[in-house]
Amino acid sequence: GEKYQRHGTVWFVHKLNILLVLSGAEEVIYAQLGETITLKPPEGYKSHNYYLYWYFGDVELVWLNYLGGNKEWMHFSLSNGSLKVTFIQQEQFGTFTCKLTWDGVKTETTYKIIKLSVSVNSSFVVLPGEPLPLVCDTETLHSPNKPEIHWLNPQEEIHSPSVTVNATNQHNGQWACVVTHDKKIHKAKISILVLDLSPAPLQPQYTSKSSPLTIPCSISSHISWEQIKAKGIQEGHWQFFQKPSSCLKSVDPQRLFQLSLKKPVSWSKEGEDRGLTPVSGLEKGVLSLTKKQWKVEDRGDYVCTLKFNNGVTLNRTVHVDVLQISASPGIHLISGQQLNLTCSLSYPLSSDMSMKWIVPEQSSQQPVAFQQGSTYFTILRVDTNDGGNWACELWQRNKRLTAAVITLMIEPKLSVWMLVIICSVPVIVLLSLILVFILHRRRKQKMRRLRHRLCKCKNPKPKGFYRT
Ligand SMILES: *[C@@H]1O[C@H](CO)[C@@H](O)[C@H](O)[C@H]1NC(C)=O
Ligand SMILES: *[C@@H]1O[C@H](CO)[C@@H](O)[C@H](O)[C@H]1NC(C)=O
Ligand SMILES: *[C@@H]1O[C@H](CO)[C@@H](O)[C@H](O)[C@H]1NC(C)=O
Ligand SMILES: *[C@@H]1O[C@H](CO)[C@@H](O)[C@H](O)[C@H]1NC(C)=O
Ligand SMILES: *[C@@H]1O[C@H](CO)[C@@H](O)[C@H](O)[C@H]1NC(C)=O
Repeated sequence: GEKYQRHGTVWFVHKLNILLVLSGAEEVIYAQLGETITLKPPEGYKSHNYYLYWYFGDVELVWLNYLGGNKEWMHFSLSNGSLKVTFIQQEQFGTFTCKLTWDGVKTETTYKIIKLSVSVNSSFVVLPGEPLPLVCDTETLHSPNKPEIHWLNPQEEIHSPSVTVNATNQHNGQWACVVTHDKKIHKAKISILVLDLSPAPLQPQYTSKSSPLTIPCSISSHISWEQIKAKGIQEGHWQFFQKPSSCLKSVDPQRLFQLSLKKPVSWSKEGEDRGLTPVSGLEKGVLSLTKKQWKVEDRGDYVCTLKFNNGVTLNRTVHVDVLQISASPGIHLISGQQLNLTCSLSYPLSSDMSMKWIVPEQSSQQPVAFQQGSTYFTILRVDTNDGGNWACELWQRNKRLTAAVITLMIEPKLSVWMLVIICSVPVIVLLSLILVFILHRRRKQKMRRLRHRLCKCKNPKPKGFYRT
């Protein structure tokens, strides 16, 4: 008796990655329909002369001895003495037997293969909030110790064997049904896809007139549009809620794009053109929009929405803030003037954010970094070296978020000599006028004298001295 039962045996069930370490003549193995399982015989048989037979019920499947054997039959095969059952079928859940003889020792080991069914009593694709009815079932075992069964969700949290949870993002991924029997653990896995949108960035997305920005939105799992349509999608769209300017209370949302669900799925533009374009990859679930140059009027919330027939609405909001740099009194200046540069966002800076000025290379102004509060840069007297590109950078800890640029044009102040030249122009003009006037008068006088002489000739008087 002793001798026959003391062979420690190691069993592998490949697809389930289960390692069973047993000692005993009967094994219980849980398997799902269609799995491939490998049953390993007791160790130590390859001494001298051995005979190995594998049975299913009373039917001999394959055999092997030190002279040769029959190693394959239907979808059963022998490898190193182990029986491999490829793609197990419904009628093969039952008892397999390994009969082994060597050195006058005879063993008979039985392997009970029990069907483990895991299923979701609905589609594998669920929307957040929809019930997710999971079923994990085994055939009843006529054994005093019943198996303990529970589910582990992708976060490794325990649920009861027939659970109906309302799906959330946390439920996306692989669930495992865990069967514990005789202190041995069997797991069967099932993949659940929760159809949702990827989380929106928590922080606003910062951009400027000179920085392109993509507003992200995408479908979180790899789900085809056919599957999404099968879930009853009604519509999809992008909306824009402009950041209300101080005097206005709220602004009506603007529709930007509408999803056209005809095959192939595409975006159609709606309403006012705000210069946004959809990013490529819609067929793969990328719903993002992009734009190269952002304006202050583009500050606000961008909302990406998918609506389903059963009332489920998926939406994500992306806040966009545009960094703006402005100059007072303007960008055309004369050296010596006072200049105020202002770098602004629609909201005050958070405590971990700062702004940094980048001054033109030749400028003598000192670049400054500053925290919350003041976002001004004042120059009491600009000079021509301050002309060029000024930038204001927005930083969060050690990361540069965006930058805005302004170009200043500064004319030199008029010099004393230039003033002299400019002031002398009217004097020269006046002098010239006087000169012209004088010349003119002299000419007139000359003419008169000439005429006078001519007159004398008309009325000739005898030349010489006449005495009358
Ligand atoms: C057969 O078993 C021997 C020793 O136990 C091992 O070295 C060999 O890799 C095994 N072959 C296969 C195909 O499993
Ligand atoms: C699956 O759902 C249907 C109805 O939705 C129900 O009748 C059936 O009992 C469920 N099956 C299991 C195993 O829960
Ligand atoms: C699931 O949601 C329904 C309503 O949608 C609610 O009545 C039910 O209690 C929820 N179930 C769980 C387990 O939260
Ligand atoms: C987003 O969805 C929630 C509920 O799912 C809804 O209350 C909210 O109004 C939606 N937001 C927009 C902008 O449509
Ligand atoms: C610049 O700002 C200061 C203080 O903020 C103000 O007194 C001054 O008038 C401003 N100058 C211009 C040209 O805007």
